[in-house]
Amino acid sequence: MELVSNLPVYQTVPEKYIFPPDKRPANDIVNHSINLPVIDLRGGGIDSDGQDEIIRDIMKAGKEFGFFQVINHGISTKTIDNMLQVCENFFKMPAQEKERYYSDDMSRAFFLNSSTQYDKSQTRYWRDYLRIACYPIEEFVDQWPEKPENFREILSEYTLRVREIASKILKLIAEGLGLHKDYFAGDLSKGNIKMEVNFYPPCPDPSLTMGLLPHCDRQLITVFAQGTATTGLQAKYKQKWINVKPIPGAFVVNFGHQLEIVTNGILKSVEHRALTNSTVARTSIATMTMPTMDCLIAPAKELVNENNPPMYKEFIFRDFIKAYDAALANREGVLEFFKLY
Ligand code: OGA
Ligand code: NI
Repeated sequence: MELVSNLPVYQTVPEKYIFPPDKRPANDIVNHSINLPVIDLRGGGIDSDGQDEIIRDIMKAGKEFGFFQVINHGISTKTIDNMLQVCENFFKMPAQEKERYYSDDMSRAFFLNSSTQYDKSQTRYWRDYLRIACYPIEEFVDQWPEKPENFREILSEYTLRVREIASKILKLIAEGLGLHKDYFAGDLSKGNIKMEVNFYPPCPDPSLTMGLLPHCDRQLITVFAQGTATTGLQAKYKQKWINVKPIPGAFVVNFGHQLEIVTNGILKSVEHRALTNSTVARTSIATMTMPTMDCLIAPAKELVNENNPPMYKEFIFRDFIKAYDAALANREGVLEFFKLY
């Protein structure tokens, strides 16, 4: 079992976590003057006052950044913080307590690992993670750990609430695109909901390591929570990186490859990465709304015409996942398989 959360406190970074210079964080420019738009969902977003304005804001932010934050989404800050805390507690358990969950078997509803599933190259990422199948809850709950205390209860509650937010946002996006509001509500979003819980312990020298290399998410849409003690997530914006500032109680929303393909590129899946830091541990939770494995994915017919031909081939979601892993989650590498031109 090889976990960063089990490492003793080092003064220097162990060799196998040191990235070659071209992959280190300092290699790229960070634009500190741009922040992601923050959208106020006013307690729920759907059927509430000012919905047209919310839709307009989401579409504007979605087209410009592919990333935005939402507040007043209907989930209390306490529910989010409880979830972040119980996850952090998991990683802080003694090694022997974690050992039985250590695996990379994707058929398991809950496993713990380190680095990533897809990048088997030399350098290890300064990151441990949990991969959890969350929904339908009754299908998976028995396979979730019973420790830390209340883990199952907290995860169940969080899953249900985040699922609601994801489907509300997808409805707003569908309307913003001029599609039927339930356009995404079928197989495009009916796969199992999965979570990736990331844990980045303090690192002796963050300039040498990476938490996650630049990637786009494979799913339809991501609803992301992060601790507020430090920054770490950066998104690509106009060839530079911007910091995604932690806001208490907010969710970061970003589009996965499937949303880019279905909208024929109107909404883009944007590259992002995670840096480490030397002072505090950082926990983050990506909740992934997925198509069913057999779902046929293609640009929506309503969004293509002679002047705006489809940019992507039709494919089955299962085949996308294979290509994603083969391309090590690299944006251009993955899209290469599915682009028409
Ligand atoms: C992810 C991800 C970023 C972070 O889990 O896909 O991009 O800051 N995480 O943890
Ligand atoms: Ni991601």
